[in-house]
Amino acid sequence: MKLLVCGGAGFIGSNFVRLRLRDHGDEVVVLDKLTYAGRRENLEGLDVELVHGAIEDPEAVAKAVEGADALVNFAAETHVDRSIAEPDAFVRTHALGTYVLLEAARAAGARYLQVSTDEVYGSIAEGSFTEASPVAPSSPYSATKAGADLLVASYVHTFGLPAVICRGSNNYGPFQYPEKLIPLMVLNALHGDPLPVYGDGMQVRNWLYVEDFGRAIGHVLEHGVPGEVYNVGGPDECANMEVVRRILELTGAGEELIEHVPDRPGHDRRYSLSSDKVRALGWEPQVHFAEGLGRTVDWYREHRDWWEPIRSGDYRAYYERQYGRRLA
Ligand SMILES: NC(=O)c1ccc[n+]([C@@H]2O[C@H](COP(=O)([O-])OP(=O)(O)OC[C@H]3O[C@@H](n4cnc5c(N)ncnc54)[C@H](O)[C@@H]3O)[C@@H](O)[C@H]2O)c1
Repeated sequence: MKLLVCGGAGFIGSNFVRLRLRDHGDEVVVLDKLTYAGRRENLEGLDVELVHGAIEDPEAVAKAVEGADALVNFAAETHVDRSIAEPDAFVRTHALGTYVLLEAARAAGARYLQVSTDEVYGSIAEGSFTEASPVAPSSPYSATKAGADLLVASYVHTFGLPAVICRGSNNYGPFQYPEKLIPLMVLNALHGDPLPVYGDGMQVRNWLYVEDFGRAIGHVLEHGVPGEVYNVGGPDECANMEVVRRILELTGAGEELIEHVPDRPGHDRRYSLSSDKVRALGWEPQVHFAEGLGRTVDWYREHRDWWEPIRSGDYRAYYERQYGRRLA
């Protein structure tokens, strides 16, 4: 299959590309704006064409989509804290960018898969969200992601575009930018920096190993019914405090590094997805949280060359603004 993967130089996109080349022999073109989160290094050694461009740029998209059988859209601004501080890029990329991609898929007669998130459903105290649950996003990040999903649904309904949506739960694994909880805590623990825990740390997430999500996206692209949404949840739930404790154990750092900081405004308490529908389609998660977290910590330990330039670059200023203290 010939794929156009938008946002393929980011965390999940690059893992997806690696998996598709390795297990399916796809031909892949990546279109990526290379924001702070998108890095050429994430695709190093892979046989792909990388086009540097934005999904909201119709000319760049029209060129990149030529000859593609399917378009998979990972391109997004993805950090909730940044969406609270500076929402404009979230609106541009998620609303305008998704619109440009849908038009391009329509013109090219290509299948379309939108990568979305459990955050569009908002928080749930008990039980799990199904695809029939109403969308009730809480942050500018999740609201603009929900808006993009609705636009995709309208292109199915109005223009008959063969599009599907995959809503994943919190991903973790190699190549994740260190602003996100797990790599942030791993790198701080390895450096002896304090581990900043929001509020009481009892926010529960439904952790999904990035390769499991990548396999689900490929599976839905091949077997999903156009017009349908598929939730893809991880096999385990875990509160942030417990995640942090496990990271301390795996890195050999001490509990005294834990530092509670004021909670994120509007922080969702719990996310949980029912994945019955995608399981019925033939996908299952393969990696439990304990195993995946161990693999992830090992990967960061062994890939200093990947994260050192990040941790010594612009990320330092971001960190200082966010947590009011300097990194070691
Ligand atoms: N990380 C998670 O836990 C998670 C969970 C579920 C769903 N998702 C979704 O998966 C997708 C990928 O997330 P991620 O964690 O890999 O994010 P990421 O921030 O690591 O990567 C995003 C990529 O998109 C690119 N990009 C941003 N704006 C762009 C634009 N306007 N045009 C072209 N490229 C652009 C960036 O350069 C980067 O390569 C997102 O749509 C996100 O909403 C993420």
